[in-house]
Amino acid sequence: MTLIIAIDGPAASGKGTLARRIAMHFGLPWLDTGLLYRAVARDVLAGGGNLDDVAVAEAMARSIVAGTLDDPALRGPQAGDAASIVAKIPEVRAALLDYQRAFALQDGGAVLDGRDIGTVVCPQARVKVFVTASDAARARRRFLEHMGRGEDVTYDNLLADIRRRDARDSGRSAAPMLAASDALHLDTTELDADQAFEAVMRLIHERIAGS
Ligand code: DC
Repeated sequence: MTLIIAIDGPAASGKGTLARRIAMHFGLPWLDTGLLYRAVARDVLAGGGNLDDVAVAEAMARSIVAGTLDDPALRGPQAGDAASIVAKIPEVRAALLDYQRAFALQDGGAVLDGRDIGTVVCPQARVKVFVTASDAARARRRFLEHMGRGEDVTYDNLLADIRRRDARDSGRSAAPMLAASDALHLDTTELDADQAFEAVMRLIHERIAGS
């Protein structure tokens, strides 16, 4: 049985943690597609380029290899913000598409999380979930994560960052963040990580049983 599971949603909705746990549960490989865009932005900046330089960003996207994704510098709000700028460029998205699709088409299937997995990368996915949470809940989660690492951040800055990124990711014309029409919806505002996982597994089992 091939099982492709697409998990989409905005920053700090909990989609990454859910995708990782779902992948572990089913014994499937997991791809955090946000890391691809983060790595493109990192490579553009490392070469002294501008994030909105189409030719440079496309060249970086074409040379991304999976080995460079395991980089702690890719975590964090600045890398996320920079990623969301290169992610607006259609040529960058096109350059990353084959890699994502090949990953999804592995024997047995895969779990991918991002913004356009259910709509563009894997419209054929057997299960699609769109994960949301209120702006305030997402900013609070990020704030606690950064505080836990002893980083100097403010809640207001994180909230502004989340809102700016949502607007950019859903307002762009190339593959905007969007729930697929056949996506299951999960709002994690009131849920902790375990409750969210239980809720998403219930939805997934219902969808698999009904398909
Ligand atoms: O999921 P993330 O926060 O790591 O993603 C960083 C940025 O990358 C996000 O703001 C928009 C972009 N992105 C995208 O456009 N499409 C994806 N499938 C994944 C991420």
